[in-house]
Amino acid sequence: MDLNLTETQRLVRQTARTFAQERVLPGARERDRKELFPAELLRELAGLGLMGVNVPAAYGGAEAGAVAYALAMMEMAAACASTAVAMAVTNMCAELICAFGSEEQKRTHVSRLVSGDAVAGAFALSEPQCGSDAAGLTTTAARRGGDWVLNGSKQWITSGAHAGVMVVWARTGAPGSRGLSAFIVEGGTRGLLVGPPEDKLGLRASNTVPLVFEDCVLPGSALLGGEGEGFKLAMMALDGGRIGIASQACGVTRAALEATVRYVRDRQAFGKHLAQFQAVRFMLANIKTELSAAEALTLRAAWCKEHQRSFTQEASMAKLFASEMANRACDKAVQLHGGYGYTDEFPVERYLRDARVQTIYEGTSEIQRVVIAREVLRAAS
Ligand code: CAA
Repeated sequence: MDLNLTETQRLVRQTARTFAQERVLPGARERDRKELFPAELLRELAGLGLMGVNVPAAYGGAEAGAVAYALAMMEMAAACASTAVAMAVTNMCAELICAFGSEEQKRTHVSRLVSGDAVAGAFALSEPQCGSDAAGLTTTAARRGGDWVLNGSKQWITSGAHAGVMVVWARTGAPGSRGLSAFIVEGGTRGLLVGPPEDKLGLRASNTVPLVFEDCVLPGSALLGGEGEGFKLAMMALDGGRIGIASQACGVTRAALEATVRYVRDRQAFGKHLAQFQAVRFMLANIKTELSAAEALTLRAAWCKEHQRSFTQEASMAKLFASEMANRACDKAVQLHGGYGYTDEFPVERYLRDARVQTIYEGTSEIQRVVIAREVLRAAS
């Protein structure tokens, strides 16, 4: 892996950093408190090319690659993890449609996602009764004439109430992973009902809703990829998505570390600054070391993706390590702030709440271990 960033990667990181610090960070606390979805910020992100960082320019993307995307995601998450997750899922949907869509689907839907016309993308895989066991989903899509008719429920859909373009998985065949297909559904389609937003521990400015499909009629052209190929599409999209969540974890942790450094340099106890106590310094040293390791794993996974190498295992390792690292680090950040860390006077409580879901969504830590162990055993056989 080349550790030197290219000119393009530097530029994307700088663009994301400036926007994140100047436009996204200032309102992050209020959006979190009031659960305000950052629709306007997402439009501005699209204007900067950050809704399609790894999408070809022919479809309106920045065509800057997977490493640039990871760097941009770290910057956004350091400012506001809620905004970052909406950006992540939109990029994931745009890349998925680019990889498997027909020319018409790319022209229509990818352009809307990356330009901001669609506000956001949504990835509708999970259901009330199946999250980790994605192959067990029960939403159905049945042929009727040249159309498809969807029936069933989805759960935990990020940006689901706002997304103009969604990728939805449904069963078109036999039980198991080979009976699933993916569909592109436009927000507001008749028969698509959006449930009330979840009242979450963290990511409170991110919109998370259940969806219900009640005889939702889609044109034949809504099928994404081949019939029965849906599960593989989901897994391949999630391989990339997991790099995004690993990046998000790194960004949140960097923000937590920076906030903690400011605090321990300022706060005094027993006649000296907290930063002078060895116990405090050791905690900072551990956070920084683990963060650097997580960043390296994440950029390595992104580099493998960018260079068309297999990256399933790398993405899962990055997501597993970075998300667990973020939880340890944010917990320590709160600890080092003492009682103040437990209030929203300081941002570390938000970082801790936002980090918590990172070991759950886009595949739990346990699922990442399943994926990694399979790859390890496969390589050894
Ligand atoms: N790439 C390509 N193909 C893959 C693949 C990958 N990474 N992983 C599996 N496949 C293929 C397999 O080769 C196999 O193909 P064949 O049928 O041709 O043999 C097929 O898919 C089935 O694979 P498995 O037998 O491994 O399937 P499984 O049922 O054992 O499941 C799993 C594997 C890893 C547990 C998977 O179900 C999984 O990742 N679950 C977690 C789901 C998840 O991450 N959900 C997140 C929801 S989305 C979200 O959170 C987004 C958001 O809004 C923030």
